[in-house]
Amino acid sequence: MRLSLLLAGAINLVATQAITTSRCTPETFTPHLSSNASLVYAVPYGPNDTFVGPLGNYSGLPEYCAVYVNVSSSATSSYEFGLWLPINTWNKRYMAYGNGGFTGMIAFADMAPGLFYGFATVSTNTGHNSSVTEAGDAGWALNNPETRTDWGWRALHGSVALGKELTEAFYSEDISYSYYAGCSTGGRQGLKSVQMFPDDFDGVLAGACAWWTTHQQNWDLKLATYNLPNNASHHITETQVDALATEVLRQCDEVDGVKDNIIMNGYACDFRPETLLCDGPSANKSTCFTADQIDTVYKIYSPWVETNDSFVFPSFAYGSETQFAQMIMTDDDEQDSPSGIAYPRDFVYNDANWPWENLDFSTIQLSDQLDPGNATAGDFDLRPFKNKGGKLIHYHGFADGEIPTGSSIYYYKQVQKMLTPLGIELEDFYRFFLIPGMEHCLDSVHDAPWYIASANQPGGLTGTNVWGVPGYRDRKHDAILALMAWVENGIAPDELIATKFIDDTPSEGVQAQRPLCVYPKEAKYVGGNWNETSAFECR
Ligand SMILES: *[C@@H]1O[C@H](CO)[C@@H](O)[C@H](O)[C@H]1NC(C)=O
Ligand SMILES: *[C@@H]1O[C@H](CO)[C@@H](O)[C@H](O)[C@H]1NC(C)=O
Ligand SMILES: *[C@@H]1O[C@H](CO)[C@@H](O)[C@H](O)[C@H]1NC(C)=O
Ligand SMILES: *[C@@H]1O[C@H](CO)[C@@H](O)[C@H](O)[C@H]1NC(C)=O
Ligand SMILES: *[C@@H]1O[C@H](CO)[C@@H](O)[C@H](O)[C@H]1NC(C)=O
Ligand SMILES: *[C@@H]1O[C@H](CO)[C@@H](O)[C@H](O)[C@H]1NC(C)=O
Ligand SMILES: *[C@@H]1O[C@H](CO)[C@@H](O)[C@H](O)[C@H]1NC(C)=O
Ligand SMILES: *[C@@H]1O[C@H](CO)[C@@H](O)[C@H](O)[C@H]1NC(C)=O
Ligand SMILES: *[C@@H]1O[C@H](CO)[C@@H](O)[C@H](O)[C@H]1NC(C)=O
Ligand SMILES: *[C@@H]1O[C@H](CO)[C@@H](O)[C@H](O)[C@H]1NC(C)=O
Repeated sequence: MRLSLLLAGAINLVATQAITTSRCTPETFTPHLSSNASLVYAVPYGPNDTFVGPLGNYSGLPEYCAVYVNVSSSATSSYEFGLWLPINTWNKRYMAYGNGGFTGMIAFADMAPGLFYGFATVSTNTGHNSSVTEAGDAGWALNNPETRTDWGWRALHGSVALGKELTEAFYSEDISYSYYAGCSTGGRQGLKSVQMFPDDFDGVLAGACAWWTTHQQNWDLKLATYNLPNNASHHITETQVDALATEVLRQCDEVDGVKDNIIMNGYACDFRPETLLCDGPSANKSTCFTADQIDTVYKIYSPWVETNDSFVFPSFAYGSETQFAQMIMTDDDEQDSPSGIAYPRDFVYNDANWPWENLDFSTIQLSDQLDPGNATAGDFDLRPFKNKGGKLIHYHGFADGEIPTGSSIYYYKQVQKMLTPLGIELEDFYRFFLIPGMEHCLDSVHDAPWYIASANQPGGLTGTNVWGVPGYRDRKHDAILALMAWVENGIAPDELIATKFIDDTPSEGVQAQRPLCVYPKEAKYVGGNWNETSAFECR
């Protein structure tokens, strides 16, 4: 089998006995369903068949059995999941993919690349249907506590559990290892599994985790309010944010010793926005900043701290401007429901008319008290996961302009504070990587290497059926293979290598690669061509 050759020496992937297509029928699965679950379909797909997904169509995939299940989770809620089972190429592993934002949609775009590894892949719609184009919309959560719980954790856990049973029934064989990969809400779901259901997975790859739901979601709104109302003297425009991004790069790029347009540590810069002040009546008002506008800049880059020094949420790192521009802009006609209002309105107050002006510390306190759907993945005691041999790889882009990089750093440090005094070495089971220049989950600013083949990432590359890291299908470059090598062979990732393909198109070749280091190490420039891995060392 092709994959076993590619991974020779690293991971022993052996395809099991071929399963005949004739097993891909409802009769194979239905006997294994509990009374609250129903099979919607079980249909085989060959390489010449097209699977029509909600956002895209998939063809040219290894032959698989596509299964779809509907589970009633309460009297008023249900969730659905898709399960794709390779017919001739199963590697005996099970891989679950997570979701994004408040979106209710099965991650077919990740399941398709997963098939090429040989995984049996599963993903849930989290209990409701909604498109990624409306990822910020949580109207479905209003008056819908059970559906919040599905989104919070129940749909993933239930889908994973039942999906495992159906997988083993299909192959008449046990799953050797179970994995998870997800980013953003998917990162939250991954941490949630580690905390609440440590036996669900042997290895978890969790990116840009939206883990602190009760704080992060309200902070989204807080952030938008810094720039409201649009006619206020402190309001800044998109053109000004562009100018801000340029000035941040000018001041911060060389802090790491290399002027390569990549800010290696977005919190290490002593940025002085005053250089942007309008210096007299003839200054260009569309790119310079008034004193009031400078105050807005300070708010954006400051952590949210409330009464009695209560830390609420960290701020964006320098370098994230390109992406956060959209988070702080509100259309004139949408000033009653700015970005970020969904969570307090639809989950916490459950009041469609809740005015955003009411956001204050009591919103955070109420959110913490209710934690609707128990969505927050805020348990730092990861001992149950560690003790059963679980491995966690966590990553976050340093140019993330949707969820501050600092929230992942904060999570890591909380786990450290809890476990280090108990004599537990985090690196034995939990490794955290920052990805300089990467935006939220994928893509990068100024051509920074970002691609590690994690969840959502193949969708950021151009090409047909892109999977893994083309040309570099090994545990150094592919975070999924790194996780497998750690779980299965005990080879812990001391570094990962991120790749930037020319135009994000693998067929055009590699533009740059750079090591990513186990936190708190950073990739330090040691000389040579900075587009090459050898120019950096983790220190
Ligand atoms: C798929 O189509 C190609 C030609 O388009 C054909 O050669 C091949 O036999 C087909 N494969 C299957 C499994 O039908
Ligand atoms: C997928 O295929 C369907 C049915 O052939 C078609 O209507 C739809 O436009 C296709 N979608 C995409 C994104 O190509
Ligand atoms: C799943 O069940 C729910 C509730 O009965 C229903 O609304 C939904 O349409 C079902 N989905 C599918 C795909 O059958
Ligand atoms: C579905 O039913 C099974 C038992 O039949 C139960 O164990 C499980 O909790 C139920 N799942 C949900 C999501 O309600
Ligand atoms: C969700 O969408 C799927 C199609 O992707 C559809 O079959 C299903 O009925 C929808 N479920 C609900 C509850 O609307
Ligand atoms: C901004 O617009 C509001 C509503 O139209 C108006 O009441 C207010 O006076 C305006 N403020 C400024 C500073 O122009
Ligand atoms: C002011 O800056 C904007 C944005 O860069 C530019 O389009 C415009 O031409 C500048 N105006 C003047 C008078 O230089
Ligand atoms: C702040 O601390 C004081 C003194 O402990 C306490 O009385 C007060 O309730 C606290 N305020 C908030 C908002 O928690
Ligand atoms: C909520 O989730 C946490 C883990 O994030 C878990 O420890 C706790 O038991 C859950 N609470 C309930 C009521 O399910
Ligand atoms: C790195 O690659 C970029 C884009 O191809 C190029 O502009 C730059 O000159 C390269 N840097 C070095 C040091 O070769």
